[in-house]
Amino acid sequence: MPIVGYYNGEFVTPDSGIVPLDERGHQFGDGVYEVIRCYNGRPFLLDWHLDRLWMSLQALRIVPPFTKDECASLIERLIAESREPESAIYLQVTRGSAVRNHLFPEPTVKANVSATVRPVTSQTSKAPGTLLMMADERWANAWIKTINLLPNILAKQTAHDMGADEALLVRDGAMIESASSNLWFVRDNQLITAPADRYILNGITRRFVMELANQLGIVVRESKLPVEELTKVDGIFITGTLTEVFPIQRVVTHPDLPYASLPAVKGSEPLAADKCQVAWEARDLSLVGRLQSAFADAIATFSR
Ligand code: PDD
Repeated sequence: MPIVGYYNGEFVTPDSGIVPLDERGHQFGDGVYEVIRCYNGRPFLLDWHLDRLWMSLQALRIVPPFTKDECASLIERLIAESREPESAIYLQVTRGSAVRNHLFPEPTVKANVSATVRPVTSQTSKAPGTLLMMADERWANAWIKTINLLPNILAKQTAHDMGADEALLVRDGAMIESASSNLWFVRDNQLITAPADRYILNGITRRFVMELANQLGIVVRESKLPVEELTKVDGIFITGTLTEVFPIQRVVTHPDLPYASLPAVKGSEPLAADKCQVAWEARDLSLVGRLQSAFADAIATFSR
């Protein structure tokens, strides 16, 4: 199946050099995005993604170059073009192209829209993973889905380098999110996840899992879990559009990655992976398994 690329009305191959050098997404990271999962050729939870895209655009004062209906039609065209039933659609809207200047360009400059469609496979059969605990170095508006993801990619790469699957980000002493997924704890058969304030991205999957938990009669508490309470946690999982519901087996820490404060500036000395220490091991992932099954059932019903 073809991998589809799109830029301002044209279908292109994703590696074509079509983006102008003066594109503000390219120069400043001045844009927003969504990742939408397609199951059986249909975009999952599309309305929620569109609502969040509009929230992000409004937060950055980018004028949408299309209506929500036009955006939904574009997504349908992208899916049709790819002919791929299981795919991830990456949709990006930037402030447009103009001579580099920190100030916003003239209102006549129109936002740029780009997209890719790529095949993906389900994550649900993957074995439980590992999180590396570290300080959250992101800005104070993590709720906006901006393409400025430098702290996220550095956190995820560090986790990967240390043999972990994801980062567990700590801000003000609480474990609030992962680098590219939302973070959940199971304690006493209840779920705990950080409230959707300005410091986390309010995930579409997070919202969907809340509904599933509600249907299953599982209590969800939106509160910030302090690091000291990690030992009382029975299970952990992370959620995201591509991550789906992913159980966690262990949390590790690294002596050179202080999570209670920002690490000292040390240049580019690589961290030694063998210095990682286990801070937490899963005690009971049965409730996470129930949520995974409920998620898989919901997808099967959606895909019919
Ligand atoms: N990541 N938190 C962060 C920081 C994220 O980047 C994401 C998603 C999530 C989960 O949100 P959702 O359930 O809406 O996908 C939480 C996307 C998929 C990405 O950047 O590729």
